[in-house]
Amino acid sequence: ALLDEAARIAREFDYPADQVNHGVTEYIKQSNEGLAQENTTLSQIPTFVTAVPNGTEKGLYLAVDLGGTNFRDLFTFLARQIEAFLRIHHNEHFEAHLRRRRDDGNHVVDLFDLGFTFSFPVRQCGINSGTLIRWTKGFNIPDAVGHDVCALLQSAIDDLHLPVRVAALVNDTVGTLMARSYTSPGETGTLLGAIFGTGTNGAYVEKLDKVTKLQHMKDAHYDTSSGEMIINAEWGSFDNHMSVLPTTVYDDELDADSNNPGVQMFEKRVSGMFLGEILRRALLAMHNNPALGLFKPSKTSKVSLPSDSLFYRQWGLDTSLLSQVESDTTKNMVDVKAALKDHLKIEHPSETECQAVKILVHAIGKRAARLAAVPLAAILIHTGKLETDEIVDVGVDGSLVEFYPSFEAYMREALREVPQVGVAGDKKVRIGISKDGSGVGAALIALVASKDETLRN
Ligand code: BG6
Ligand code: GLC
Repeated sequence: ALLDEAARIAREFDYPADQVNHGVTEYIKQSNEGLAQENTTLSQIPTFVTAVPNGTEKGLYLAVDLGGTNFRDLFTFLARQIEAFLRIHHNEHFEAHLRRRRDDGNHVVDLFDLGFTFSFPVRQCGINSGTLIRWTKGFNIPDAVGHDVCALLQSAIDDLHLPVRVAALVNDTVGTLMARSYTSPGETGTLLGAIFGTGTNGAYVEKLDKVTKLQHMKDAHYDTSSGEMIINAEWGSFDNHMSVLPTTVYDDELDADSNNPGVQMFEKRVSGMFLGEILRRALLAMHNNPALGLFKPSKTSKVSLPSDSLFYRQWGLDTSLLSQVESDTTKNMVDVKAALKDHLKIEHPSETECQAVKILVHAIGKRAARLAAVPLAAILIHTGKLETDEIVDVGVDGSLVEFYPSFEAYMREALREVPQVGVAGDKKVRIGISKDGSGVGAALIALVASKDETLRN
């Protein structure tokens, strides 16, 4: 009964080819809306980065990649970390700067340019300024919304008199795209940088004349010579109104109980932070069904699930459990058992219980990977990149694509089911991990920005 029920729930996560195709058509529609106007479901944020690097760029730049803590202390914390880093790696330069400051009372010399990777939706007004639109991935510090995150970091840096100027504000997807382009083999630059980690999002190279909403941003300065601009899609919010996204009762409840119901609806079905919670809710439903007895001790089962287990806590289950379970190829499900014990303190589960977990993990992970093909296919079609014989390069990063087995394989399987891509199109797409690339990408953007004074606001 347990395995039948697990298989029944798993089927609710099927995402067949016709739905993938429907999703792609809708994605193209919503992305065009986002290029034309503000406040659309896909933000399509102009980044003011107008070229990708080719690997010849050189220089010394700092990069900060935001982790997270609470807002009031957040920027001071970051500034202190920068100070500690400078003390360790560039102390001479730092001391010289302090001496000069003391001697002439002035300090605007020999500043380090810093690229700030800030992985949240920011309405950019230029390469080094932008206001936070909303928090995502469980962050919720209302005070910060609407503020210029570059100015906040710069002011914390200035309070500590650090020789640092925030030269560029960079989404992690943009950083990933830049870093991948810097290192990827061949002549063609990278088309897309994508994150499949705690959250999911992508940034791609768009023709400037398609970004028609830029016409309303008369004060913005950017170099138009390449005729292109990188767009941060913020695809986590694709189809917030749920016109084409698949859903289950577990998805719906997760959303209703989240701190941002009704937004990031695509992300809530695809990325690591949410997959664990979907799984937890599906398993909990089975646990609470007396007919199934999942993780309940009985005459025949010594399974133990303590009441303080994270199994009972919202967000208690993270993606690494899914990756561990999906990778298990052992006969006795040694890794599934270890994952249940390490993450949830569940001990002595039966093999049938482990099997039920495996079935659900597989279904939830596979749906996520197939959904991930939707923006990828849409961007390939929309940019017309498959129409030439050239390889299309894509840089990816994030714990899900790195550690969840077969994420890329399932994503590609769905990609091939899109007729405009097909087997031939899939072959042209080269996907490469750009591990921790966003920091390098941010430094590269700081380099470009620092060379072009007109880019600064
Ligand atoms: C890291 C990047 O490698 O991946 C970050 O440096 C990015 O900028 C992160 O946000 C995404 O993955 P995860 O799994 O940490 O959310
Ligand atoms: C969330 C953020 C987005 C970021 C992504 C990956 O979707 O809104 O800005 O790129 O997570 O980290």
